[in-house]
Amino acid sequence: MAKCDLTIRGGTIVTATDRFVADIGIRDGVIVEISESITDTSEVIDATGLHVLPGGIDAHVHLDQPTSDGTKMADDFATGTLSAAAGGNTTVLPFAMQVKGTSLRQCVEDYHRKAEGKCFTDVSFHLVISDPTPFVLGQELPALVRDGYTSFKVFMTYDDLVLNDQELLEVFDVARQEEALVMVHAEGNDAIKFMTQKLESEGHNAPYYHAEAHSQIAEREATHRAISHAQLTDVPVVIVHVSGRDPMEQIQWARRRGMKVFAETCPQYIALTKEDLKGLNMDFQGAKYVCSPPPRDTDSQNAIWEGLSDGTFDLFSSDHCPFYFDAPNETGKNNNRARTSFKWVPNGIPGVETRLPILFSEGVSKGRISIERFVALTSSNPARLYGLYPKKGTLTIGSDADITLWDDCREVTIRQDDLHHGSDYTPYEGMVVKGWPVRTILRGKTIMVEGKVSDEKATGQHLRRGKSELGYSKK
Ligand code: URP
Ligand code: ZN
Ligand code: ZN
Repeated sequence: MAKCDLTIRGGTIVTATDRFVADIGIRDGVIVEISESITDTSEVIDATGLHVLPGGIDAHVHLDQPTSDGTKMADDFATGTLSAAAGGNTTVLPFAMQVKGTSLRQCVEDYHRKAEGKCFTDVSFHLVISDPTPFVLGQELPALVRDGYTSFKVFMTYDDLVLNDQELLEVFDVARQEEALVMVHAEGNDAIKFMTQKLESEGHNAPYYHAEAHSQIAEREATHRAISHAQLTDVPVVIVHVSGRDPMEQIQWARRRGMKVFAETCPQYIALTKEDLKGLNMDFQGAKYVCSPPPRDTDSQNAIWEGLSDGTFDLFSSDHCPFYFDAPNETGKNNNRARTSFKWVPNGIPGVETRLPILFSEGVSKGRISIERFVALTSSNPARLYGLYPKKGTLTIGSDADITLWDDCREVTIRQDDLHHGSDYTPYEGMVVKGWPVRTILRGKTIMVEGKVSDEKATGQHLRRGKSELGYSKK
């Protein structure tokens, strides 16, 4: 065995299926040896007493996206991936969002320009299809899938993004032909608009009413409709950011019928409830928690925990969608128009840096899920579902040396002042978590140690992805 550049010594290696103490030897950024004792090495990192995990893969983040109302997103690729690295992640999957009336290919090129040279973690873009013209469906989308953009998101709500049922079916059909994976934002647009008008007419304009307008009924209905469309077109789908029991039951219903329906949930559905949207006595601070679907109630949180442990959920992603609360020139959540109605509050909250600690603390430290399941939900499954496995998402010979050293005893109080994202707040301020990433290693190079992210040049790369090994069986 040739000499290693680096050895991670004496830690407890954890994958989605195994846990054992061993050394990991790395050469040229790749894992070349896993054994009891590696001595022929240039450098050693002592991991005694720590867990050695595959780097976190956050499969749902929004960075540097344009918004329809000019609200400024708080993270570009530099700050967003830096925050991700600080939170123990080595890969993130942001969205290259098509703006209606524009070319999908052009939009992907624009995102590459935004990301180029700025990324501290590896990145790989999902597409967002907002304008499924014959040219997009017949030419651009198939060509992009073949170029390694093997997943795309569609929306069933938001006026500037929503697709009607015929459009959804047409997009699903292309996904099946190209063996791409469709991710669905499942909330019924008309039901939300109806409820919004009703609440506004009754004078209910505060951020809290966002949670009433975006009801779980509208989420359940859209989830079932998306599943029906997937059944009709015979295509696997991922229902993203599932918030509670009602949509979960639709997913379980489909799976009992043998359908390939995958499900994602997020920290806000275990750590927040709609009560948070009340702020302090229904004041505007509640806008800090406005996201879609909104956090629900404790019964929903319990349901999400059942789903995280029984396999209903495949993915635990952040849905990091960072806005400022206070920003100059009306570009944050706290703007004049948003104060007239909850419907103008930008949807989305930051969370890429706190995703892993929140799931570990609430899940593993509190005995709700095993550490292997934690790894599956946060790293291995995202890699397998989105065509990155086994280069990413596991620790085995030949995998990229993307590694997070994890201290399961460390207690941390989450504070905005200590985080690295661009937002001026965290929705999890003051939350005490047990379990924290102490070092993040990307392809054999340390990019974060003890909260300090490397000030060397950002070395993250864009990853061309293969076909989903869970969605479409390997030929
Ligand atoms: O409120 C949210 N989730 N904003 C991000 C956009 C999306 O729908 O994922
Ligand atoms: Zn969404
Ligand atoms: Zn999202």
